Amino acid sequence: MDAFKAMETRHTTRSYHDKTVPQAAIQKILGAAVKAPSSMNQQPWHFIVVNAKDAKAKIRRLYDQARKELNYYEQDTSFMENGALVVVCCNSAGDDQRFSCLMAAQNMLIAATALGLGSGPSITLLQSKEGAKKLRRLLGIPKKIAPLLLVTLGYTDKKPAHYKKKKGLKKVLHENRW
Ligand SMILES: Cc1cc2nc3c(=O)[nH]c(=O)nc-3n(C[C@H](O)[C@H](O)[C@H](O)COP(=O)(O)O)c2cc1C
Repeated sequence: MDAFKAMETRHTTRSYHDKTVPQAAIQKILGAAVKAPSSMNQQPWHFIVVNAKDAKAKIRRLYDQARKELNYYEQDTSFMENGALVVVCCNSAGDDQRFSCLMAAQNMLIAATALGLGSGPSITLLQSKEGAKKLRRLLGIPKKIAPLLLVTLGYTDKKPAHYKKKKGLKKVLHENRW
């Protein structure tokens, strides 16, 4: 699949089969992540791949709690434990390095799409102070490392319920000045 097709067809997947994502696919996706650009080429990213069923079930519970705490809409959250889960972390508190890590995360989504896998970024758990604290404890994340984003990956045959219409380029394009 070429890059344009992957960007066009990528969408956030929230329903996965309970089927293990092969290590080879995860390696390929993370291989794409570490090719991302980074401010001053610091490559500040770290990735925690969570495959263990019990850990994923615990993370799903933390996610559920965070959604309740934040009054978000009710969601079928099985996608948090049915596929693989990668926590994208940053070894720096600087915005520039955090942006770099998010570029790596975007590479992961595109690579997953190109491999025919569903994927989705997820931040809700980390928006909850308590959730973030518990995730740190669960995964042994050192104090100086910031977990930034969860990326779920998995097999799906579900098409997005409502293909999200994206804003047309015309609405957001400014030429020469705003
Ligand atoms: C930074 C970021 C955080 C997100 N966090 C969540 C989340 O916690 N839960 C969720 O269901 N979707 C989450 N999403 C997915 C968005 O809802 C989704 O990208 C958006 O609705 C557009 O749909 P699309 O990805 O299919 O184009 C997140 C997306 C981004 C970029």
